[in-house]
Amino acid sequence: MRKKITIIGAGNVGATAAHWAVVRGLGDVVLLDVVEGVPQGKALDLWQSGPVENFAWGVKGSNDYADTAGSDIVIITAGLARKPGMSRDDLLAKNVAIVKTCTAEAVKYSPDCVLIVVTNPIDAMVYTAFKVSGFPPNRVIGMAGVLDSARYRTFLADALGVAPSDVNAMVMGIHGDNMLPLPRLANVAGVPISDLLSEEKINEIVKRTQMGGIEIVNHLKTGSAFYTPGLSAIEMAEAIVKDSKRVLPCAAYLEGEFGISGCFLGVPVVLGEKGVERIIEFELTSEEKAALNESVAAVQNQMADTGL
Ligand code: NAI
Ligand code: 2OP
Repeated sequence: MRKKITIIGAGNVGATAAHWAVVRGLGDVVLLDVVEGVPQGKALDLWQSGPVENFAWGVKGSNDYADTAGSDIVIITAGLARKPGMSRDDLLAKNVAIVKTCTAEAVKYSPDCVLIVVTNPIDAMVYTAFKVSGFPPNRVIGMAGVLDSARYRTFLADALGVAPSDVNAMVMGIHGDNMLPLPRLANVAGVPISDLLSEEKINEIVKRTQMGGIEIVNHLKTGSAFYTPGLSAIEMAEAIVKDSKRVLPCAAYLEGEFGISGCFLGVPVVLGEKGVERIIEFELTSEEKAALNESVAAVQNQMADTGL
């Protein structure tokens, strides 16, 4: 049966996600925004690429949540984006109100959907969606790890002169300065990067990955990254729609894994038709554990600021 994917927020990330959803053939797409005309115009434009890209999916723009009814996946990208000088935390107060409204409306019409939250600060916004939706933890997931890991893999591939797809590397933890790119686990076709790059170069790449978002904000000046963020959300949605059991780093609700409970944090998860089917837990070194705990403290502060 055809799947239905709703994307809330028809801005840069939402429209890019809608584009990838139709190109990858995930199903019918609804693009929703508060601004009248924008989702309708973008959806119409996208729908008209069907004959060229050879797809027959419906693409509808709307300001009415009734049009999202029965969605299998709802991706929330609505909210303010970062500008130079703004941290992801600066967005919290405004975006928490937006994510609350979007979640409440979306789940009213799609009570069985999987929610993928993109709005920043992501670790607090996915917690907001979790609290407001009342969904079980497996059906509320935050997108950041796919993006951060893609940046990490790109920088490593560039330094090594190899294809990015042959670089396996993962970023865990918060989507913020305390995120945790894990050099110990990074490899090129199985060869550890520590055999291929100097410690100094690896540290430089780790730092650049942690600052990956602001590097783009400083170039753009009027907003933040959207090509890879939009695609990353669809990478997660595709794994769920196709029940492919992909292992992707996502912000998932922890209930004792890695010794952490009661918050969302970037960890490797198995994604399938139920959403998060399993969190892949593994032994961390004492330094990695300490770094992850810094992420937890930062996320807990953000969670407190949501007032939920
Ligand atoms: P944007 O400004 O281009 O688009 C945001 C859209 O949300 C606008 O079209 C706006 O009208 C809409 N919107 C605002 N309030 C709404 C509401 N109540 N209901 C429906 N729509 C509403 O911003 P962009 O670049 O698309 O970023 C969206 C969010 O995603 C930001 O919070 C940004 O920080 C976050 N982001 C998160 C990433 C991650 O890794 N988790 C990566 C990139 C962006
Ligand atoms: C990013 O990392 C702004 O969080 C967004 O690009």
